[in-house]
Amino acid sequence: MRRPTKYTMSARLYDVISFEWPVYRAGRESAFELLNLPAGSHVLDLGCGTGLNFAGLQRMIGPTGSITGVDASSQMLEQARRRADRAGWDNVTLVAADATALTSADLGEAEFDAALSTYALSLMTPWQAALDSMIAHTREGGAVAVVDMQRPVGRAAVWTPLAKLACRLGGSDIEAHPWTTMTPRLHDLSTRSVRGGHIQVRVGTVVSRPAAPSS
Ligand SMILES: C[S@@+](CC[C@H](N)C(=O)[O-])C[C@H]1O[C@@H](n2cnc3c(N)ncnc32)[C@H](O)[C@@H]1O
Repeated sequence: MRRPTKYTMSARLYDVISFEWPVYRAGRESAFELLNLPAGSHVLDLGCGTGLNFAGLQRMIGPTGSITGVDASSQMLEQARRRADRAGWDNVTLVAADATALTSADLGEAEFDAALSTYALSLMTPWQAALDSMIAHTREGGAVAVVDMQRPVGRAAVWTPLAKLACRLGGSDIEAHPWTTMTPRLHDLSTRSVRGGHIQVRVGTVVSRPAAPSS
């Protein structure tokens, strides 16, 4: 069952009001660098929203790869579809589903080479279920990337009220820290901390996976 999210009314404005250029683009670019996917990779983008990850992913995977974007908001997916159509990407599949209750039946692809979630797990309850899904649907040796937010640290802590406001407006829990349980379950974890520590980036390798639920 799909859950209603905040991202219904605001879908059309999301790219403009989400502080993408000054703040959040840096996190997704760091994840792309760490992922460094080969051409032809099949990628799962959980909580894909309007598809702001698509251009960066397409740069790496090319036309022989594919992106499967999952989101609970059909309005956000509509924007993602427009983005893909405008760019002529015919390798993008969009799935309307609750990422915390995802099954293989929701996804055409049995196994992905990589899965990522940017600024989305901290909106989901329970986010652990969505992270489990990312790992369960990625092949062994594949990569899982999480980009999410926390309070800025050090001198950047002065920006904490602004960071908290941005997260509250976006519906995310700034204290969720959804990357924290990646450590024992993924290997070779790479870490980046950007924008004064507000944005945390983790990329790890799947070594063994729990079975993905089939229905
Ligand atoms: C802040 S937006 C991030 C979108 C995109 N990943 C990005 O980097 O711009 C969070 C997205 O998560 C989606 N979302 C929230 N809860 C969800 C859930 N349980 N299952 C699937 N998508 C969900 C929202 O609809 C929204 O599109």
